[in-house]
Amino acid sequence: MTTTTARQSLWLADSGAGVDYPALAGAVTVDVAVVGAGITGLTTALLLNRAGLRVAVLEAGRVGHGASGNNTAKVSALQATVYSELIRRHGVAAAAGYAEANLAGVATLAEIVEQEGIDCALERRPALTYAISESERDTVAAEFEAARRAGLAVVQDSDGAGLPLPTYGSVRLADQLAIHPVRYLRGLAAAVHGDRSRVYEDSRVLEVRAGGTSTVRTAGGTVRAEWIVIATHAPMLDRGLYFARLKAMRSYCVAARLRSGRPPVGLAINAGDPVRSIASAGDLLIIGGQGHPAGERGVDAGRYLALESFARKHWDVAEITHRWSAQDLYAYDGLPMIGSYTPGSRNVFVATGYRKWGLATATAAAMLLRDSLTGQSNPWTALFAPHRLSLRDLPELARLNGKVAVDLVGDRLRPAEVSDPADVPRGEARVLRDGVGQTGVYRDEQGGLHAVSLRCTHLGCLLRFNGAESSWDCPCHGSRFDVDGAVLEGPATRPLRRRTLSDEEA
Ligand code: FES
Repeated sequence: MTTTTARQSLWLADSGAGVDYPALAGAVTVDVAVVGAGITGLTTALLLNRAGLRVAVLEAGRVGHGASGNNTAKVSALQATVYSELIRRHGVAAAAGYAEANLAGVATLAEIVEQEGIDCALERRPALTYAISESERDTVAAEFEAARRAGLAVVQDSDGAGLPLPTYGSVRLADQLAIHPVRYLRGLAAAVHGDRSRVYEDSRVLEVRAGGTSTVRTAGGTVRAEWIVIATHAPMLDRGLYFARLKAMRSYCVAARLRSGRPPVGLAINAGDPVRSIASAGDLLIIGGQGHPAGERGVDAGRYLALESFARKHWDVAEITHRWSAQDLYAYDGLPMIGSYTPGSRNVFVATGYRKWGLATATAAAMLLRDSLTGQSNPWTALFAPHRLSLRDLPELARLNGKVAVDLVGDRLRPAEVSDPADVPRGEARVLRDGVGQTGVYRDEQGGLHAVSLRCTHLGCLLRFNGAESSWDCPCHGSRFDVDGAVLEGPATRPLRRRTLSDEEA
């Protein structure tokens, strides 16, 4: 996806253009249409292709340019404090199922790398959950116990296992993976694209019709298929009400070149807030954190500066080489949603809600989707069924949607920030109230103005400016748009209306 504002992860920045896949043109008939060429979509396509099915993968932008190419590249079944949370919310059996799925995801990803000969710098590394303060010590100890009960072969350390900062204990799981996610995705795409199956880029799906034979339509063509898999990170179809059951969270990453010393080997994350995720790629240190709900007010470049300052405090940083951000989706009850798109649907499937750990969980999701489409039983089907009802978590569901109602109504009353676009400084954005509603005006560093309607094209919430990314973000369900209105993140699929400012205004 080419946009005016998206920053690039270090993996996108050092990968070159990659292979261009064609846009869909005309009518195609396959067994399975997969919407989205991230880890979920491409792994599902590969596994189904191996099972003898013909697959068409439709990507709105370019392979690797979505969430799967913008992360910290950790492939791990140890995931901060997830097992303490899952045992508390769902019990030990559910946590054990989640652990088993993620271990299988890690193992399958490594197998695919080997079987397909993908050059993605895969390394076996330990994953760590560490205590960055005395107050996190008990949380880490509890996570050790929870992860052990869930079936992970974790080890408890009294220190931070090699991190060059004061730590207060850690949990470690050996043999997890670090990869170059963009090279991995491109390797997956190359393995899928062949005589039986095809990858299409620049092919945004505009319409999905489910039935005996389903159809998927893009601007350039149509795919007829028996099954459809929606693997668009945020599910793009409103039926199923995923937007109302998922919470979108943003987080930030920086990469740093060190003047002396080496970045740590472990894939580490602390056990509380603020989050300080630590990883490395080659000789670059990666720090992640500073998360917040999508569409939060007052987000600016300070998110990156806080991470940079943490890196400089504990390492001899020569320069910050890359900055990028990620968006992650959390189901209201904390478990991923993988299976039939709507209750009883037999030909449309979905996978979403991987929290921050999509590289491992998405691979497990692809295994489950393959089994669902090929009629095989799978041990995680019920656990991850998208339409399970968790009574215990209904208050969280109500809270999530109560917040949306407040954002939907409250922002309608917000005052305009400027009445004259001439008052918008370079590199900043302001809200302008005009005769047709609220207009977002951004002035780029060259002085050019970019004006768009602030009404989200999903369900009409008003967007807020994200100063860290120079994007317009939706507080209701996490859709994001660049300053010219192009969609950066769903569930929205249509761009914002562009507004024309008169010469006098500009
Ligand atoms: Fe749903 Fe904006 S993402 S209204």
